[in-house]
Amino acid sequence: MTTRRSDNVVWSPGHLSPAQRAASLGYGAMTVWLTGLSGSGKSTLAFALEARLLARRVHAYVLDGDNVRHGLNGDLGFSPSDRAENIRRIGHVCRLFNDAGLVVITAFISPYRKDRAWVRELHRDTRFVEVHVSTPLETCEQRDVKGLYARARAGEIPDFSGISAPYEPPESPELAVDTSASSLGDCVEAILALLERHGLRPSPGPTR
Ligand SMILES: Nc1ncnc2c1ncn2[C@@H]1O[C@H](COP(=O)(O)OP(=O)(O)O)[C@@H](O)[C@H]1O
Ligand SMILES: [Mg+2]
Repeated sequence: MTTRRSDNVVWSPGHLSPAQRAASLGYGAMTVWLTGLSGSGKSTLAFALEARLLARRVHAYVLDGDNVRHGLNGDLGFSPSDRAENIRRIGHVCRLFNDAGLVVITAFISPYRKDRAWVRELHRDTRFVEVHVSTPLETCEQRDVKGLYARARAGEIPDFSGISAPYEPPESPELAVDTSASSLGDCVEAILALLERHGLRPSPGPTR
């Protein structure tokens, strides 16, 4: 998925290395990629995790599927090629935010393994963890937070992951959390523990 129209672009390096930036902030940037069905709990977990990290003075920011589709990716639909383009743009935004020193938490269904493999490869020289929010379809459908499952079952949404379009579960995510079996707090703790295993060292100091 390389898209570059012009050959006449040259990278302009800044003065700070990622290591220097991390040293000044006190932690290293990373991307936490949440994937799962609609209603599995991605947004709820992402915003709770973001708040926990900020309380520990780690600058974290959520890129949320619906929010990004309001603006940057507002021109994209839900066909496989539009979903690939959605992930391509988000992947590059993650890298830019990582470069700025942030921990980025993404909350996108990201149903295709190929697209997730691409974004992992994009992060090959920085830290990346994939978390499968593995809440079963039946629970997501019972929750039906946005009423979309009912509409998909009625045939009104042709590209709805899990009903009328595929969801390909990750084969080897760094972590799986099932929000039908664990509380929100326990899921957030499990992800925090994962981030620490992957080198995130937030200062333990008092919260604001
Ligand atoms: N342990 C849990 N973790 C996260 N969400 C939970 C949990 N238990 C119940 N829920 C509920 O499940 C719903 C998940 O919705 P949402 O976060 O919008 O999902 P998604 O972003 O994956 O579509 C919310 O209404 C949330 O309150
Ligand atoms: Mg969401």
